[in-house]
Amino acid sequence: MKILTLHGGARKKGNTATAAGWVENELTSMGHEVESIYLFDKNIKGCLACAKCKDTPDKVACIQKDDASEILDKMVAADLVVFTSPLYFWGLAGPLKTFIDRTYSLYVDYHKPTHTSLVEGQRQALLVTGAGPYENNAEPVFTAFNRLQSPHKAVKAGELFLGKCSTPDNFNTATKERMLTFAREIVK
Ligand SMILES: Cc1cc2nc3c(=O)[nH]c(=O)nc-3n(C[C@H](O)[C@H](O)[C@H](O)COP(=O)(O)O)c2cc1C
Repeated sequence: MKILTLHGGARKKGNTATAAGWVENELTSMGHEVESIYLFDKNIKGCLACAKCKDTPDKVACIQKDDASEILDKMVAADLVVFTSPLYFWGLAGPLKTFIDRTYSLYVDYHKPTHTSLVEGQRQALLVTGAGPYENNAEPVFTAFNRLQSPHKAVKAGELFLGKCSTPDNFNTATKERMLTFAREIVK
């Protein structure tokens, strides 16, 4: 499987990157092709909502000339996209939210019989870490993610919230095992 991991967090040695690293390593060792992109390092502007992309439904056709187009092309080519993010104020970290807004250019005619998507049938998964528990904290981010597959015509491959995180050195073997299980589940 061709797998793209899109990271929303800035910290490459933080909780999310550490947990995601276990997932990526497991996927690679299973024989999958994994490309990992830290969106924080990229120049990705917000969606203009100009809808010019909707005039060209057969390819990524955003009029903005920044790094998003290349990443969107990689997303179109991927069988599975794993989004990862720290939980920031009950939502995704800014770079990932901004990129997801740009996926507006991947589909046309949402809610119409003529609805098509460049990522139709793609598997999508979400991994989020947070300092707090799931309850009364992480629900909104998963609610939004669970709706994303509808305009994308994609398939939810899995979701995982790693709560009550402090620092990566406090992760234990059970944490790692959860990540390895998650990796195996999202490619099933
Ligand atoms: C700006 C900001 C907002 C945060 N908001 C939340 C939150 O709403 N809920 C939560 O559980 N943790 C929150 N946290 C804590 C982080 O989600 C948590 O420490 C996470 O594991 C950090 O991931 P990282 O090490 O990959 O950066 C916030 C942290 C920051 C810096």
